[in-house]
Amino acid sequence: MDEMIQENGRLGERWDIKGRIALVTGASKRLGRAIALDLACRGARIAAHCASSLDAAEDLAGKIRQNGGTCQIFPADFDCPENAGELVRRVAASMGTVSILINNASIFDEQSFREMSLPEIERNLRINAWAPMEAARAMAATCEDGVIINLLDTRVLDYDRTHVPYHLSKRMLATLNRIMALEFAPRIRVNAIAPGLVLPPEGKDDSYLAALAPSVPLQTWGGTQDIVDAAIYLIQARFVTGQTLYVDGGRHMKGHVYE
Ligand SMILES: NC(=O)c1ccc[n+]([C@@H]2O[C@H](COP(=O)([O-])OP(=O)(O)OC[C@H]3O[C@@H](n4cnc5c(N)ncnc54)[C@H](OP(=O)(O)O)[C@@H]3O)[C@@H](O)[C@H]2O)c1
Repeated sequence: MDEMIQENGRLGERWDIKGRIALVTGASKRLGRAIALDLACRGARIAAHCASSLDAAEDLAGKIRQNGGTCQIFPADFDCPENAGELVRRVAASMGTVSILINNASIFDEQSFREMSLPEIERNLRINAWAPMEAARAMAATCEDGVIINLLDTRVLDYDRTHVPYHLSKRMLATLNRIMALEFAPRIRVNAIAPGLVLPPEGKDDSYLAALAPSVPLQTWGGTQDIVDAAIYLIQARFVTGQTLYVDGGRHMKGHVYE
Protein backbone atom coordinates (compact mmCIF):
# COMPACT_ATOMS: atom_id res chain seq x y z
CA MET A 1 0.00 0.00 0.00
CA ASP A 2 2.81 2.44 0.93
CA GLU A 3 4.39 1.80 -2.48
CA MET A 4 1.17 2.74 -4.28
CA ILE A 5 0.89 5.94 -2.26
CA GLN A 6 4.54 6.71 -2.98
CA GLU A 7 3.98 6.24 -6.72
CA ASN A 8 1.24 8.90 -6.55
CA GLY A 9 3.88 11.21 -5.10
CA ARG A 10 1.85 11.97 -1.99
CA LEU A 11 4.10 10.77 0.80
CA GLY A 12 5.89 13.57 2.58
CA GLU A 13 4.17 16.27 0.51
CA ARG A 14 1.54 17.36 3.01
CA TRP A 15 2.35 20.37 5.17
CA ASP A 16 3.29 18.92 8.54
CA ILE A 17 1.17 19.89 11.57
CA LYS A 18 3.24 18.08 14.20
CA GLY A 19 5.16 20.34 16.58
CA ARG A 20 3.62 23.57 15.26
CA ILE A 21 2.20 26.26 17.54
CA ALA A 22 -1.50 26.53 16.67
CA LEU A 23 -3.49 29.50 17.95
CA VAL A 24 -7.24 28.85 17.90
CA THR A 25 -9.40 31.85 18.75
CA GLY A 26 -12.67 31.16 20.56
CA ALA A 27 -11.31 27.70 21.39
CA SER A 28 -13.36 27.03 24.55
CA LYS A 29 -16.47 25.57 22.95
CA ARG A 30 -18.19 24.29 19.86
CA LEU A 31 -16.27 24.50 16.55
CA GLY A 32 -13.16 26.12 18.04
CA ARG A 33 -12.84 23.41 20.67
CA ALA A 34 -13.27 20.62 18.09
CA ILE A 35 -10.57 22.10 15.83
CA ALA A 36 -8.19 22.59 18.79
CA LEU A 37 -8.67 18.99 19.96
CA ASP A 38 -8.03 17.59 16.48
CA LEU A 39 -4.90 19.70 15.99
CA ALA A 40 -3.64 18.56 19.42
CA CYS A 41 -4.22 14.92 18.41
CA ARG A 42 -2.02 15.59 15.37
CA GLY A 43 0.82 16.87 17.55
CA ALA A 44 0.30 20.64 17.36
CA ARG A 45 0.94 22.64 20.52
CA ILE A 46 -2.25 24.55 21.24
CA ALA A 47 -2.63 28.19 22.24
CA ALA A 48 -6.30 28.31 23.22
CA HIS A 49 -7.78 31.78 23.13
CA CYS A 50 -10.96 32.56 25.08
CA ALA A 51 -12.91 35.69 25.95
CA SER A 52 -15.42 34.93 28.73
CA SER A 53 -15.37 31.10 28.83
CA LEU A 54 -12.31 30.55 31.01
CA ASP A 55 -13.73 27.44 32.75
CA ALA A 56 -14.45 25.79 29.41
CA ALA A 57 -10.95 26.73 28.18
CA GLU A 58 -9.47 25.07 31.27
CA ASP A 59 -11.54 21.96 30.58
CA LEU A 60 -10.14 21.87 27.01
CA ALA A 61 -6.56 22.40 28.20
CA GLY A 62 -6.98 19.65 30.83
CA LYS A 63 -8.22 17.19 28.22
CA ILE A 64 -5.32 17.93 25.86
CA ARG A 65 -2.73 17.65 28.66
CA GLN A 66 -4.23 14.38 29.99
CA ASN A 67 -3.66 12.95 26.52
CA GLY A 68 -0.02 14.02 26.48
CA GLY A 69 -0.45 17.25 24.50
CA THR A 70 0.43 20.88 25.17
CA CYS A 71 -2.16 23.60 25.67
CA GLN A 72 -1.89 27.07 27.18
CA ILE A 73 -4.80 29.47 27.63
CA PHE A 74 -4.74 33.11 26.49
CA PRO A 75 -7.74 35.32 27.34
CA ALA A 76 -8.40 38.42 25.20
CA ASP A 77 -11.39 40.59 24.32
CA PHE A 78 -11.51 41.39 20.58
CA ASP A 79 -13.94 44.25 21.09
CA CYS A 80 -10.61 46.04 21.27
CA PRO A 81 -9.19 44.36 18.12
CA GLU A 82 -5.60 45.43 18.77
CA ASN A 83 -5.78 42.77 21.51
CA ALA A 84 -5.72 40.14 18.75
CA GLY A 85 -2.30 41.27 17.54
CA GLU A 86 -1.10 41.48 21.12
CA LEU A 87 -2.44 37.95 21.68
CA VAL A 88 -0.23 36.56 18.89
CA ARG A 89 2.80 38.29 20.41
CA ARG A 90 1.95 36.91 23.89
CA VAL A 91 1.67 33.39 22.48
CA ALA A 92 5.00 33.79 20.65
CA ALA A 93 6.73 35.02 23.82
CA SER A 94 5.39 32.12 25.85
CA MET A 95 5.30 29.18 23.40
CA GLY A 96 7.14 30.19 20.19
CA THR A 97 6.16 31.55 16.76
CA VAL A 98 2.56 30.89 15.76
CA SER A 99 2.48 29.01 12.46
CA ILE A 100 -1.18 27.90 12.46
CA LEU A 101 -3.81 30.56 13.14
CA ILE A 102 -7.49 29.61 13.25
CA ASN A 103 -9.59 32.80 13.25
CA ASN A 104 -12.73 31.24 14.70
CA ALA A 105 -14.00 33.67 17.42
CA SER A 106 -17.08 35.59 16.36
CA ILE A 107 -20.28 37.24 17.52
CA PHE A 108 -23.67 36.48 15.94
CA ASP A 109 -26.13 39.07 17.16
CA GLU A 110 -29.59 39.48 15.67
CA GLN A 111 -30.15 42.84 14.03
CA SER A 112 -32.21 43.71 10.97
CA PHE A 113 -31.56 46.37 8.35
CA ARG A 114 -34.20 48.62 10.00
CA GLU A 115 -32.72 48.23 13.47
CA MET A 116 -29.04 48.31 12.66
CA SER A 117 -26.89 51.11 14.00
CA LEU A 118 -23.39 52.25 13.14
CA PRO A 119 -22.01 51.31 16.60
CA GLU A 120 -23.38 47.77 16.18
CA ILE A 121 -21.86 47.46 12.69
CA GLU A 122 -18.55 48.74 14.05
CA ARG A 123 -18.64 46.23 16.91
CA ASN A 124 -19.19 43.36 14.44
CA LEU A 125 -16.42 44.64 12.19
CA ARG A 126 -14.03 44.93 15.16
CA ILE A 127 -14.62 41.40 16.47
CA ASN A 128 -15.44 39.43 13.29
CA ALA A 129 -13.13 41.08 10.73
CA TRP A 130 -10.57 43.50 12.15
CA ALA A 131 -9.39 41.25 15.01
CA PRO A 132 -8.71 38.29 12.65
CA MET A 133 -6.77 40.67 10.39
CA GLU A 134 -4.76 42.06 13.36
CA ALA A 135 -3.92 38.51 14.48
CA ALA A 136 -2.91 37.56 10.94
CA ARG A 137 -0.70 40.63 10.49
CA ALA A 138 1.03 39.99 13.81
CA MET A 139 1.63 36.36 12.83
CA ALA A 140 2.96 37.36 9.40
CA ALA A 141 5.45 39.73 11.04
CA THR A 142 7.48 36.77 12.29
CA CYS A 143 6.26 33.55 10.68
CA GLU A 144 8.22 32.18 7.71
CA ASP A 145 6.07 29.13 6.98
CA GLY A 146 2.48 29.17 8.16
CA VAL A 147 -1.20 28.83 7.47
CA ILE A 148 -4.27 30.84 8.43
CA ILE A 149 -7.88 29.68 8.37
CA ASN A 150 -10.68 32.25 8.59
CA LEU A 151 -14.13 31.04 9.63
CA LEU A 152 -16.72 32.71 7.39
CA ASP A 153 -20.33 31.68 6.84
CA THR A 154 -22.13 30.29 3.78
CA ARG A 155 -24.35 33.37 4.07
CA VAL A 156 -21.54 35.62 2.75
CA LEU A 157 -22.88 34.91 -0.75
CA ASP A 158 -26.48 35.74 0.07
CA TYR A 159 -28.40 38.09 2.29
CA ASP A 160 -29.14 37.35 5.93
CA ARG A 161 -31.82 39.89 6.82
CA THR A 162 -31.88 39.00 10.52
CA HIS A 163 -28.13 39.45 11.16
CA VAL A 164 -27.12 42.35 8.94
CA PRO A 165 -24.08 43.69 10.90
CA TYR A 166 -22.79 40.09 11.21
CA HIS A 167 -23.33 39.55 7.47
CA LEU A 168 -21.40 42.72 6.58
CA SER A 169 -18.52 41.80 8.89
CA LYS A 170 -18.19 38.27 7.44
CA ARG A 171 -18.19 39.74 3.93
CA MET A 172 -15.33 41.99 4.94
CA LEU A 173 -13.46 38.98 6.31
CA ALA A 174 -14.12 37.13 3.03
CA THR A 175 -12.45 39.97 1.12
CA LEU A 176 -9.60 40.10 3.63
CA ASN A 177 -9.13 36.37 3.13
CA ARG A 178 -8.18 36.97 -0.51
CA ILE A 179 -6.18 40.12 0.21
CA MET A 180 -4.15 38.39 2.92
CA ALA A 181 -3.57 35.32 0.72
CA LEU A 182 -1.83 37.61 -1.78
CA GLU A 183 -0.10 39.82 0.79
CA PHE A 184 1.38 36.92 2.77
CA ALA A 185 2.31 34.62 -0.14
CA PRO A 186 4.56 32.72 -0.48
CA ARG A 187 5.32 32.39 3.25
CA ILE A 188 1.78 31.97 4.58
CA ARG A 189 -1.27 30.37 3.00
CA VAL A 190 -4.64 31.94 3.83
CA ASN A 191 -7.90 30.06 3.30
CA ALA A 192 -11.45 30.19 4.62
CA ILE A 193 -14.16 27.77 5.64
CA ALA A 194 -17.77 28.87 5.16
CA PRO A 195 -19.92 26.62 7.34
CA GLY A 196 -23.61 26.26 6.70
CA LEU A 197 -26.12 24.64 9.00
CA VAL A 198 -23.84 22.94 11.53
CA LEU A 199 -24.56 23.80 15.15
CA PRO A 200 -27.67 25.53 16.47
CA PRO A 201 -27.03 28.94 18.04
CA GLU A 202 -26.38 28.66 21.79
CA GLY A 203 -29.62 28.05 23.67
CA LYS A 204 -31.32 26.31 20.70
CA ASP A 205 -31.45 22.58 20.03
CA ASP A 206 -31.51 20.28 16.98
CA SER A 207 -35.14 21.23 16.22
CA TYR A 208 -33.68 24.55 14.98
CA LEU A 209 -31.50 22.60 12.51
CA ALA A 210 -34.31 20.20 11.53
CA ALA A 211 -36.59 23.13 10.65
CA LEU A 212 -33.96 24.61 8.30
CA ALA A 213 -32.71 21.33 6.77
CA PRO A 214 -35.26 21.36 3.87
CA SER A 215 -33.59 24.56 2.57
CA VAL A 216 -30.28 22.69 2.17
CA PRO A 217 -29.76 20.83 -1.15
CA LEU A 218 -28.48 17.78 0.74
CA GLN A 219 -31.58 18.02 3.04
CA THR A 220 -29.61 17.68 6.26
CA TRP A 221 -27.20 19.50 8.57
CA GLY A 222 -23.49 19.05 9.19
CA GLY A 223 -21.49 18.15 12.28
CA THR A 224 -18.40 19.63 13.90
CA GLN A 225 -16.30 16.87 12.28
CA ASP A 226 -17.22 18.20 8.82
CA ILE A 227 -15.66 21.55 9.74
CA VAL A 228 -12.64 19.92 11.40
CA ASP A 229 -12.02 17.80 8.27
CA ALA A 230 -12.12 20.94 6.10
CA ALA A 231 -9.69 22.73 8.41
CA ILE A 232 -7.23 19.84 8.38
CA TYR A 233 -7.43 19.60 4.58
CA LEU A 234 -6.74 23.33 4.14
CA ILE A 235 -3.91 23.32 6.70
CA GLN A 236 -2.14 20.43 4.97
CA ALA A 237 -2.83 21.52 1.36
CA ARG A 238 0.51 23.13 0.54
CA PHE A 239 -0.61 24.27 -2.96
CA VAL A 240 -3.91 25.92 -1.93
CA THR A 241 -4.32 29.56 -0.92
CA GLY A 242 -7.01 32.24 -1.20
CA GLN A 243 -9.78 29.61 -1.23
CA THR A 244 -13.12 29.45 0.52
CA LEU A 245 -14.40 25.96 1.18
CA TYR A 246 -18.20 25.91 1.60
CA VAL A 247 -19.09 23.16 4.06
CA ASP A 248 -22.82 23.64 3.85
CA GLY A 249 -24.59 20.77 2.06
CA GLY A 250 -24.74 22.92 -1.08
CA ARG A 251 -26.65 25.82 0.46
CA HIS A 252 -24.36 28.46 -1.09
CA MET A 253 -25.74 27.57 -4.54
CA LYS A 254 -29.33 28.46 -3.74
CA GLY A 255 -29.23 32.26 -3.95
CA HIS A 256 -31.14 32.36 -0.70
CA VAL A 257 -32.49 35.29 1.30
CA TYR A 258 -32.30 34.20 4.93
CA GLU A 259 -35.48 35.26 6.80
N1 LIG B 1 -21.96 27.04 14.27
C1 LIG B 1 -22.31 27.11 13.00
O1 LIG B 1 -23.16 26.34 12.53
C2 LIG B 1 -21.69 28.17 12.11
C3 LIG B 1 -22.32 28.49 10.90
C4 LIG B 1 -21.74 29.46 10.10
C5 LIG B 1 -20.56 30.07 10.48
N2 LIG B 1 -19.97 29.73 11.65
C6 LIG B 1 -18.71 30.41 12.04
O2 LIG B 1 -17.81 29.46 12.58
C7 LIG B 1 -17.12 30.01 13.72
C8 LIG B 1 -17.36 29.16 14.96
O3 LIG B 1 -18.76 29.02 15.16
P1 LIG B 1 -19.33 28.72 16.62
O4 LIG B 1 -20.82 28.65 16.47
O5 LIG B 1 -18.59 27.58 17.21
O6 LIG B 1 -18.90 30.09 17.35
P2 LIG B 1 -19.51 30.75 18.68
O7 LIG B 1 -19.77 29.70 19.67
O8 LIG B 1 -20.68 31.63 18.29
O9 LIG B 1 -18.33 31.73 19.10
C9 LIG B 1 -16.99 31.28 19.24
C10 LIG B 1 -16.29 32.04 20.30
O10 LIG B 1 -16.15 33.43 19.96
C11 LIG B 1 -15.69 34.05 21.14
N3 LIG B 1 -15.99 35.49 21.23
C12 LIG B 1 -17.22 36.07 21.28
N4 LIG B 1 -17.07 37.40 21.53
C13 LIG B 1 -15.73 37.64 21.62
C14 LIG B 1 -14.95 38.79 21.88
N5 LIG B 1 -15.51 40.00 22.13
N6 LIG B 1 -13.61 38.67 21.93
C15 LIG B 1 -13.02 37.47 21.70
N7 LIG B 1 -13.71 36.34 21.47
C16 LIG B 1 -15.04 36.41 21.43
C17 LIG B 1 -16.39 33.34 22.29
O11 LIG B 1 -15.41 33.04 23.29
P3 LIG B 1 -15.82 32.86 24.86
O12 LIG B 1 -16.83 31.74 24.86
O13 LIG B 1 -14.55 32.55 25.52
O14 LIG B 1 -16.43 34.18 25.29
C18 LIG B 1 -17.00 32.09 21.64
O15 LIG B 1 -16.80 30.92 22.36
C19 LIG B 1 -17.62 31.44 13.86
O16 LIG B 1 -16.71 32.31 13.22
C20 LIG B 1 -18.96 31.43 13.14
O17 LIG B 1 -19.31 32.70 12.61
C21 LIG B 1 -20.51 28.80 12.48
